[in-house]
Amino acid sequence: MRKPLIAGNWKMYKTPKESLAFLNEFLPLMSDHTAHDITIFPTMSSLGYVIEAVKGTNVSAGAQTMHWLNEGPYTGQTSPTMLASINCTHVLLGHSERRIYANETDDMVNWKLKAALAHDLVPIVCVGESQEKRQAGLTEAVLNWQIACALNGVRSEYAAPIVIAYEPIWAIGTGSVATPDQVSEAHGIIRREVAARLGQHRADAIRILYGGSVKPENIAKLMVEPEIDGALVGGASLDAKSFAQLIHNSVRNTGGKK
Ligand code: PGA
Repeated sequence: MRKPLIAGNWKMYKTPKESLAFLNEFLPLMSDHTAHDITIFPTMSSLGYVIEAVKGTNVSAGAQTMHWLNEGPYTGQTSPTMLASINCTHVLLGHSERRIYANETDDMVNWKLKAALAHDLVPIVCVGESQEKRQAGLTEAVLNWQIACALNGVRSEYAAPIVIAYEPIWAIGTGSVATPDQVSEAHGIIRREVAARLGQHRADAIRILYGGSVKPENIAKLMVEPEIDGALVGGASLDAKSFAQLIHNSVRNTGGKK
């Protein structure tokens, strides 16, 4: 059984003060919630505060990106050792906003993934096609390529912590959530590629999240699909009550599907 994971990607929102105000409201609402793993990805300036605030709770915290090297003359970067040193447990890799605005390449995502595994950070690797690629019938080719590149040289025995997030670019921040069928199909493609790279056993166990305009109102329909192991939530993770509601609405009801 894959335990579902709901992750909140705060992008470039919330000062440390605002982050702590969110947690003051959010943590009590989640205190007896065990159905999901819950992780929050605040900005780098809030991360240390958030890690301290969630200590001993059922919520964890991670970084939105990192460099792959441990140190060096790389202005503006944070390394895996630095994240591990503040008890950071998770890291987002290859988010499309990083790929688009920070020129992150498939090779970099691969180097970062290996660095994350080497430092015991749980990597959430984001993949997803653009509108143009989908319209050109290239969704499968894009997903296979991104997964193959990300996993290049990753040994199956070290791959257990990996989480993948399918985030079609056309669904992020647009209000156009992908349909449960579209998501299931994409997750099936991803899982087959993971099986080809890491073996069926690993592919069966790996969690694949969906991200892109997930809201409290549409999460339940997505979570019906057995292929969907949770969500990476942007905009709808910024408000404590509504994010808590979203998580409560994510409790699996497979409606007879296996
Ligand atoms: P969204 O963002 O939920 O605001 O569409 C998702 C993401 O970018 O991870």
